[in-house]
Amino acid sequence: MTTEPFDAVQVITAKRDGRALSDAQIDWVLDAYTRGAVAEEQMAALAMAVFLNGMTPGELARWTAAMIATGERLDFSGLGKPTADKHSTGGIGDKITLPLGPLVASYGVAVPQLSGRGLGYTGGTLDKLESIPGWSGALSNDQMRRQLAEVGAVVAQAGAGLAPADRKLYSLRDVTGTVDSIPLISSSIMSKKIAEGTSALVLDVKCGTGAFMREPERAKQLAETMVGLGAAHGVKTAALITDMSTPLGLTVGNALEVRESVEVLAGGGPADVVELTLALAAEMLRLAGVDADPAANLANGKAMDCWRKMVAAQGGDPDADLGWARESQDVPATADGVLTRLDALGVGVAAWRLGAGRARKEDPVQARAGIVLHAKPGDHVRAGQPLMTLHTDTAELFARALEALEGAWEIGAEEPQRQLILDRVPEQL
Ligand code: URA
Repeated sequence: MTTEPFDAVQVITAKRDGRALSDAQIDWVLDAYTRGAVAEEQMAALAMAVFLNGMTPGELARWTAAMIATGERLDFSGLGKPTADKHSTGGIGDKITLPLGPLVASYGVAVPQLSGRGLGYTGGTLDKLESIPGWSGALSNDQMRRQLAEVGAVVAQAGAGLAPADRKLYSLRDVTGTVDSIPLISSSIMSKKIAEGTSALVLDVKCGTGAFMREPERAKQLAETMVGLGAAHGVKTAALITDMSTPLGLTVGNALEVRESVEVLAGGGPADVVELTLALAAEMLRLAGVDADPAANLANGKAMDCWRKMVAAQGGDPDADLGWARESQDVPATADGVLTRLDALGVGVAAWRLGAGRARKEDPVQARAGIVLHAKPGDHVRAGQPLMTLHTDTAELFARALEALEGAWEIGAEEPQRQLILDRVPEQL
């Protein structure tokens, strides 16, 4: 005799038939799924019904709250400084978290970044930072709080305690064709970010071949949905929609991206990485109530000081030589002209095949594998000049990486226009 207040089949059929679920049904189904009282196949059917029929704004806000309620919610309100965080929906060469956290923290804001490992061709911030000898993201909540008080910036591995319903549901969606749903993506991301305890949040919603969202309209819809969810939970949330049709910066791969981030913190680095870092920092500072131009602390070394403290506080050596992979191979331009296209997805898959990413959660990554770009769209190139250099510890991986790059770039006559920041969704509070 079951003591459950609802029947999973009734919840599934309600959503299947296009009816809105009640608050009580939503609370129950997510809690029961997390406890194991709703079976994987039942949740798979419900996820597909949500995928096909969507959710009302009210259902979505409740669904997100119910996901948060399955775990702990961190609280940094006692720190005596504002908190702000950034979340990117993921892209190729997206190392922005690395310079951004210390930059914003250098203005007295606490930046409690909880990050994951990469799966597939988008890299994870933890994988990048783990290429620094000694660095660890395995921190307890107390260690995280202490580092936020003393240094301001922290990057910690998201523990199992935050939104455990999402952990199960995301794995299930991955194998049931239900990832690409705006309500399911937005509740998944926002449940974790809200549970993380930040009071302000800036979203970097990527759009283009290397992103979940290929079309600007869908990216905007996702951004607006997440901004609304943040507001519904008392987190000041704004979003930028940014181009991910070509990689960010000139490096893709863990140690390679750390090296480039350090260049940005030293006042140099590629223009697009600097532009996006400053744009996101400006949004975070504004939402945190700090009136400052973030370019100042990149130029005067304060962001770099904070980076060094952050790395050292987590056991890393900020002066360590990150080294180079054992093998490298250039990819030459085939004609004189302008690089008109360099496809984010092709480069991302190639870097992944070189060992920079993993196919399964438990796979190791090569810290030094990846790609260094020598030209970006708009640059003039000459036949034979290297367009990029592939790096790996395993020479046999070059062939498959080169296959991924077939058709991923074009040389022509006209300079392409790239707008990095495509749109902005302001906060609702
Ligand atoms: N990232 C998440 O955390 N969840 C999604 O559903 C998609 C991207």
